[in-house]
Amino acid sequence: MKDREHGGDALVLAHYYAPAEVQRTADFVGDSYALAKKAKESDKDTVVFCGVSFMGESAKILCPEKTVYLPEPAAHCAMADMADEEEIMRLRREVPDLAVVTYINSSARLKALSDVIVTSSNAQKIVAALPQKNIYFIPDQNLGKYVAAHDTSGKNFIFGRGYCPVHAAVTAEDVLRAKTAHPDARFLTHPECAAEVCALADYVGSTAGIISFAEDSEAREFIVGTEEGVLYELERRCPNKKFYLVRVRFLCEDMKKITREKVRAALAGELPPVEVEEKVRVKAERALLRMLELAQ
Ligand code: 13P
Ligand code: SF4
Repeated sequence: MKDREHGGDALVLAHYYAPAEVQRTADFVGDSYALAKKAKESDKDTVVFCGVSFMGESAKILCPEKTVYLPEPAAHCAMADMADEEEIMRLRREVPDLAVVTYINSSARLKALSDVIVTSSNAQKIVAALPQKNIYFIPDQNLGKYVAAHDTSGKNFIFGRGYCPVHAAVTAEDVLRAKTAHPDARFLTHPECAAEVCALADYVGSTAGIISFAEDSEAREFIVGTEEGVLYELERRCPNKKFYLVRVRFLCEDMKKITREKVRAALAGELPPVEVEEKVRVKAERALLRMLELAQ
């Protein structure tokens, strides 16, 4: 299979954390929000989603009429189940005027219990647009706290306890060490990192936001505080700029399970398609459609 020459009626989507050889194969590479929108808007009958399972599930939830494949169905996001269904129900009973705001890095079951889904590129805007005063933000506590710290709409926040083990492992010491080694570099990071890490950043945002910031910036060097897969797109778009990872082996192992061979198997229909139980799908769809509406 040559780059972008898979042919046929399938749309191949890849996240920026997919291996470079897989990103090269895709019709479109993006952050979680752009990929969900692309899947929804495509007129193709088949979507091959080169990402972790919540991404393929989200595409299936939004496009039940399409056949969606995950090249590696066993690639999961470690954070996707880090919220407690009982706790959601309890807070719904006990806290008046509550919106359950769920990061897209979550299982279909959690999405189905939510008022709205957000991604790192739209969470701030969506939370501010909600009519409810109280926000239960799950599963990512770091993203939730980042949104709360920058909220100007006067919401009260309750945070879940989930986290991304890959981003939460970055420490302020890692950043200071990288800044000492590269004193002229700007530090760009993802809001899944801890507050003390984000506080040291010149830019905090989604993977797509990080890439756009580096592209538009006049700076020549950047310390990158997200998974190393983004280096492929950063170096492709900014061949004359230098990028340094904030820590060695900044790696989402599950994303790296996806290979070109597995994409080929998905395109050949050799894998089981993504299925989401209809009762769950309908409820999760409502929350995802609310995201698409409020993120406009
Ligand atoms: P983005 O939505 O920024 O692409 O992030 C997805 C993700 O899984 C970050 O760890
Ligand atoms: Fe999930 Fe973290 Fe991997 Fe993103 S980097 S997919 S949040 S485990």
